[in-house]
Amino acid sequence: MMTSFFAQCRSMLAESSFATALAFTVSLLGMGSLTAQSIDDITLNVYKDVNCGCCVGWIDHMHDKGFASKINHPRNLNGVKHDLGVLPEWQSCHTAVTKEGFVFEGHVPAKFIEQFLAAPPEGALGLAVPGMPLGSPGMEMGERFTPYDIVQMNKDGSSRVFAHVGSAAAQK
Ligand code: CU
Ligand code: CU
Repeated sequence: MMTSFFAQCRSMLAESSFATALAFTVSLLGMGSLTAQSIDDITLNVYKDVNCGCCVGWIDHMHDKGFASKINHPRNLNGVKHDLGVLPEWQSCHTAVTKEGFVFEGHVPAKFIEQFLAAPPEGALGLAVPGMPLGSPGMEMGERFTPYDIVQMNKDGSSRVFAHVGSAAAQK
């Protein structure tokens, strides 16, 4: 991951002006020290596409609720989902993993992740919000809201409805 990240940065540096290069170097230094200071606080390893904007919206939502994220841009995001056991019918744009190995797929509100982590159900892999329902955290579009289910993914490939989210208020 780091190798590809730095390779990408290097090629960008080669093409850019000195000022941009300097800005890049400064931001890299900043990231380095942040990682060193807060490594024990990292709760979620988030895998997403480099161009995903709604993913960043969800990461911000989680941050507001006290979850730190380490962001990863794997070359093969589908491969990561597959390796973690996220079946195609559960998939969304991004995949978050806790240190303990619990998986949260898509725009799951922090509230339900807290509920899950407080008492992880027997055999559960994690929670998923398949697709990208309008109005879920990171998918805000004015007042628009599409009701959705939060799916409990189990390690044996089965699933159940963990919660039904019928309104934007129910996400708070
Ligand atoms: Cu999304
Ligand atoms: Cu996403």
